[in-house]
Order: sequence, then C-alpha cells, then structure tokens
Amino acid sequence: MRQISTLLMFLVILCYSMQAHAKPLNRYDAASNTSRVLSDGPLEWESQPWGEGGKTFKTFCRSCHNSHNDKGAPFLWSESKNQEAWDRVFETRYPKCAQDGTWSAISDEQLRRVHDYLWRWANNVKANICRG
Ligand code: HEC
Repeated sequence: MRQISTLLMFLVILCYSMQAHAKPLNRYDAASNTSRVLSDGPLEWESQPWGEGGKTFKTFCRSCHNSHNDKGAPFLWSESKNQEAWDRVFETRYPKCAQDGTWSAISDEQLRRVHDYLWRWANNVKANICRG
C-alpha cells in the first residue's frame, strides 16, 4: 500500500513538473487583442480545471452541455475541439447559445478564462496525456 502511494505521488509530481517546465504557453486573444500568459502568473492557476476558467466551464457551460440534458446541447469538454476550433468559437461566437444572449450571463473576462481553459486543454495539446 505504502509503495503504491509513493509511486502515485511520484507520478503526480513528475506530471506536474513536466508541465511546469514546458515552454511558455501564450494564447493570443483576438477578441481583446491581447496575449494571455498561461504558463505562469495568475492565469496559470485560473486556466486549470480547478481555476476560474475550468470551474466556470463546469458550472455554467456544462449546466447545458452535459451528457443528459434536455436542451439539445451537445456534450462538450475541452477535448471536444482543437485550439483553432475553440478560438473560432470565441472569436466569432457562432454557437446558438452565444447568439441568443446566454453567454451574457457571465462577464467578458470570465468568458476569456473559459476560453483559456478550453484552449489549454484542447484535444491537440500533448501535455494533456498527464491529465488522465
Ligand atoms: C442554457 C444552455 C446553454 C449554456 C449555458 C451554454 N450553451 Fe452552448 N449550446 C446550447 C445549445 C442548446 C446548443 C445547440 C444549439 C444548436 O442546436 O445549434 C449549444 C451549442 C454550442 C456550441 C456548438 C456545438 C458544437 O459542437 O460546436 C458550442 C461550441 C457551445 N455551445 C459552447 C458553449 C460554451 C463555451 C458555453 C459556456 C461559455 C456554453 N456553450 C453555454 C446551450 C447552452
């Protein structure tokens, strides 16, 4: 039992440090014409599943986009799309839920943080293998 938890600890630390030493992670946000640093500083935390980006996605977007909703919303998670596709979602706001005003329930900065989270953990990101 002890050995197993030691091994688990080791893996967790290994995964975490691999990410920490990854190359700088910057997301260009076209809507606000700013570059958002996700590899360190406050957004490093906020773009994690447990940061504001991940949490807002879970409580707000997932309130409809879960696998058992009756609203006709497809199930969504960060790996539903690649980074370019998530950029398109937030730059053009083509989804019906964005067009019909649903997204205005949260602030622009909260939306940018959801975008940070989805982009960081999108399906074409190699570092994601550690997340399980
Ligand atoms: C009140 C419910 C609701 C909320 C909250 C909501 N959506 Fe939606 N969304 C929908 C529905 C319903 C559709 C499908 C509309 C259609 O039939 O085209 C949709 C469509 C989409 C699509 C297009 C589907 C696809 O596969 O490309 C995306 C992307 C999307 N939503 C993202 C989001 C994000 C990101 C959030 C949070 C910021 C969010 N939605 C919040 C109801 C919601």
